[in-house]
Amino acid sequence: MSGFDKSWLALREPADLAARDPGLVERTLSWLSQKERPVIVDIGCGTGSSVRALGTKFPPDLQMDWRLVDYDSELLSEARRQLGDDGFEYHQVDLNQLEDLPLEGASLLSASAFFDLASARFCEEMAALVAERHCAFYAALNYDGKVEWNHPHPLDSEVVRDFNQHQRMDKGLGCALGPQAVAHLQGAFESLEYRILVAESPWDLGEEQAMLQQEMLKGMVGPILEIGRLGPAEVDDWLAFRLDRVHEFSSCRVGHLDILALPSD
Ligand SMILES: C[S@@+](CC[C@H](N)C(=O)[O-])C[C@H]1O[C@@H](n2cnc3c(N)ncnc32)[C@H](O)[C@@H]1O
Repeated sequence: MSGFDKSWLALREPADLAARDPGLVERTLSWLSQKERPVIVDIGCGTGSSVRALGTKFPPDLQMDWRLVDYDSELLSEARRQLGDDGFEYHQVDLNQLEDLPLEGASLLSASAFFDLASARFCEEMAALVAERHCAFYAALNYDGKVEWNHPHPLDSEVVRDFNQHQRMDKGLGCALGPQAVAHLQGAFESLEYRILVAESPWDLGEEQAMLQQEMLKGMVGPILEIGRLGPAEVDDWLAFRLDRVHEFSSCRVGHLDILALPSD
């Protein structure tokens, strides 16, 4: 188990699909459509959300092969249950062992909601592997550190500050970049002479996403308390205020960035 359970991934997936920048999806698909039978390697695939975001938009006559990579066997099984085997391979790989990554013949390395968990070193090594193979790179939905609510609470900025500090802690792939992930990836690919496109892909959550808001808010509490600057009573008050407003015409914007890096011809 990775700690990302499939019900959380299912809850966030509609917001993720709505948030992805359509221009970058379009550019990614147009790059892939120049390949005869593109091979996409999706890392940290979870239950296969990248397939549902990209695969359904491909022209029907374009055949492609997906290699879905994750270290969590339960998530891979769920991906297989949903997607089947035709055109899909499933690889249980811990990405700390990059030599096990099935990159042979890959056209695109993709990921979503993943690179903010990764370290600077991981991003650099991944960029180098991608460039060695002259592959494209598309990483969507990297948290950018900005969370804003239309009903402010006096502790919002401290809560987000502490949450962002926690995002920089080790998530299993070295000290995580958190909100700095896209800037770092951009630098790594620029130094490899890739063409880079970056676009915002925020979640805009309203009452219809009340359950996602509730789970997100509750999920922030543990990290904030672990940082330890705010006390449990203050955090409880903040959480109660926020949960009360989820159904009251409130809205919440959570910032993400998408990045596409294309090899120069
Ligand atoms: C936030 S989830 C995103 C899942 C999916 N890409 C999505 O957008 O729904 C992060 C994923 O990265 C995977 N992951 C985290 N660390 C990993 C590692 N060291 N090796 C392989 N997969 C890892 C987790 O198992 C999880 O599926």
